[in-house]
Amino acid sequence: MTVADQARLLADIRAGFDIPPGKVYLDGNSLGPLHGSVKAHVLAVVGEQWGTDLIAGWNTHQWIDLPVVVGDQLAPLLGAQPGEVLCCDNLSINLFKALAAALEINAPRRRIVTEATHFPTDNYIADGLARLLGPNRCYVDALSLEQIAQLDFSDVAVLSLSHVDFKTGERRDLPSLTAQAQSAGALVVWDLAHSAGVMNPGLNDHHVDMAVGCTYKFLNGGPGSPGFLYVAPRHQYATNAIPGWMGHADRFAFESAYRPAKGMGRFLTGTQSVIAMAAASAALALFDGISVDTLRQRSLQLSDAFIAALAAHPATRDLACLTPLQHEQRGSQVSLRLSDGFPISQALIARDIIVDFREPDIVRFGFAPLFNLESDIDRAVSALADILASRVYTEPQFRTRTTVT
Ligand SMILES: Cc1ncc(COP(=O)(O)O)c(C=O)c1O
Repeated sequence: MTVADQARLLADIRAGFDIPPGKVYLDGNSLGPLHGSVKAHVLAVVGEQWGTDLIAGWNTHQWIDLPVVVGDQLAPLLGAQPGEVLCCDNLSINLFKALAAALEINAPRRRIVTEATHFPTDNYIADGLARLLGPNRCYVDALSLEQIAQLDFSDVAVLSLSHVDFKTGERRDLPSLTAQAQSAGALVVWDLAHSAGVMNPGLNDHHVDMAVGCTYKFLNGGPGSPGFLYVAPRHQYATNAIPGWMGHADRFAFESAYRPAKGMGRFLTGTQSVIAMAAASAALALFDGISVDTLRQRSLQLSDAFIAALAAHPATRDLACLTPLQHEQRGSQVSLRLSDGFPISQALIARDIIVDFREPDIVRFGFAPLFNLESDIDRAVSALADILASRVYTEPQFRTRTTVT
């Protein structure tokens, strides 16, 4: 497909998103918007599949195979092959399974190295696993990225890192960190929450051991849509620490003893949410025919345009940008450090510029190649400049905290 064909395809996809008129949606890094084809598919699954076929739907509509089928849809976006990815559970639970499997593979090593500023769930999960296994089997070392870059991995069982940092939008050097850890015998588990759908992590090319992610951000699967788990074929013999009947070799034999399925299927646990998975599947179908390189180029074009527009405006040119300017170190968001970040984010939202805030002072602007346009950037930067110049954000209504920021 030529570049022009790809651009046309992107324009067609963009036209199908149900973004409310007037809104500039720069929060696809948190929750992707609804696409018309996803809505239609969910309605069909509810009305025509569940509503009509009832329990027969598990067979007639192959609901039972959804974790594998949707995992296979994800594989090309991750640089993986069919049979290497499952769409199931959520990122946190999949991380528990991945870390536990990595510890088993690398026994008697017992050290999990993680980044101190990792997304909190990643460290809660590692700590929880360490508590469960006890210090003779596992302990967690939370370090800075600089310390990790200097580390001798010779006693490390597994390194757990985010490909793109959720606060700063910094992209980590996945190939070199993976090679560094593996050269001393450690395994690596990558959290792809902020990279899936906007860049190619190249899991096979870079010999990644395991990876986890979610489908509700740049993959537009819907609020709380399922997570995913990648396990390289060489590790697919490992134990699933949460063994359930869906990962059994013969589910409907209802054997009292657990026998794991062959290959990736063993990492399933319980019954999938068919409706949520149907939404994720329809959302992933939008990526058919779009190359991951096109997505990455478009993402960088958008964040470049945003950074340039900030630099061009007197009211925004001196703002502290936490996101690296070098392309290879940039994810698909730009994070600004603003001392009044929370009220400023609220003032932007009040003007229909949808962004989000992360403690203590970070406003995140996410750029989604499937639906953002340069005109979104112009509106966002001029609204931000106006809000800063007018100091409207100091008004009390912008200080009210809601549960989700
Ligand atoms: C980087 C990162 N890791 C993990 C999570 C948690 O994922 P989940 O709640 O789907 O388990 C998130 C959620 O936003 C995230 O951004």
